[in-house]
Amino acid sequence: MPIKHHRPSGAGASNAKLNLSVLRDTTKSRLYRLHTASANDIDKLTELEREVFPTLWPPINFAREIKKPTQAVLVVSVRSGTASRGPAEQTGSLVERVVDGIKTLVMSGTPLETAFGAGGQQNEDRIAGWAIVWFVAGEAHIASIGVSGADRRRGVGELLVLGTIDSATSNDCDELTLEVRKSNEAAHALYRKYGFRVVGERKAYYVDDNEDALIMTTPDIREPNYAASLTNLAAEHAHRWAETGSRFERV
Ligand SMILES: CC(C)(COP(=O)(O)OP(=O)(O)OC[C@H]1O[C@@H](n2cnc3c(N)ncnc32)[C@H](O)[C@@H]1OP(=O)(O)O)[C@@H](O)C(=O)NCCC(=O)NCCS
Repeated sequence: MPIKHHRPSGAGASNAKLNLSVLRDTTKSRLYRLHTASANDIDKLTELEREVFPTLWPPINFAREIKKPTQAVLVVSVRSGTASRGPAEQTGSLVERVVDGIKTLVMSGTPLETAFGAGGQQNEDRIAGWAIVWFVAGEAHIASIGVSGADRRRGVGELLVLGTIDSATSNDCDELTLEVRKSNEAAHALYRKYGFRVVGERKAYYVDDNEDALIMTTPDIREPNYAASLTNLAAEHAHRWAETGSRFERV
């Protein structure tokens, strides 16, 4: 990762199917939002990619990527400023709230700006991270994922992985796969946490320095044990935000 040598092709997926979730960091009045990338995000994504992968050549052409129907470009945006009015606190478990919140956004077709709330002083969004996932023949391939240095170790990477799994499910995929540098222990740990296991290697996969890649794959994401562990991980992730004074917001 990022992918340099091959690109799956296929049909049947849609950028538009992604579910959405919103987390509000109330202590810092920061709203973290997972969503599909739009044309407005291209310049910021290009800049962030340069920060995260300074040696990558050629750089990702996000303008082209967001138009492809067989993949999703996911973004975590951050908006800081005065927190806007929020809906009433939700009852029920965190998991129920997460799941319910995601469904609410998707089913009601709530405009994204509504997710931020009306009123409240808000600054321009910046982008904390992105993920690109391709859908082909029942398999989702995470082609690229990156989080800005300033936003690491806060759960943004996990939010992106949760988003890729969610979009894989929406696009009828059974498993997710990816390549990762052999030396990238932070990324290995992130993927292992979400059930990815090493299933092979690609020798000299990365063109800049000939480093080998590990191929990592999830089990069948529709399998009940995996679905249960994912529910737990999503709940832990939401709890972690809650512990830091943040809260999941239903919109
Ligand atoms: C890998 C990367 C995406 C992780 O993003 P992140 O937002 O910092 O990750 P999170 O805060 O969500 O961490 C989730 C899990 O990932 C693992 N992890 C993340 N950073 C880690 C680090 N520096 N060391 C060890 N484990 C790490 C941990 O298992 C962590 O779970 P924990 O907090 O319960 O220990 C980020 O470090 C990054 O963008 N790196 C540069 C680009 C890159 O390597 N992309 C992946 C290419 S395959």
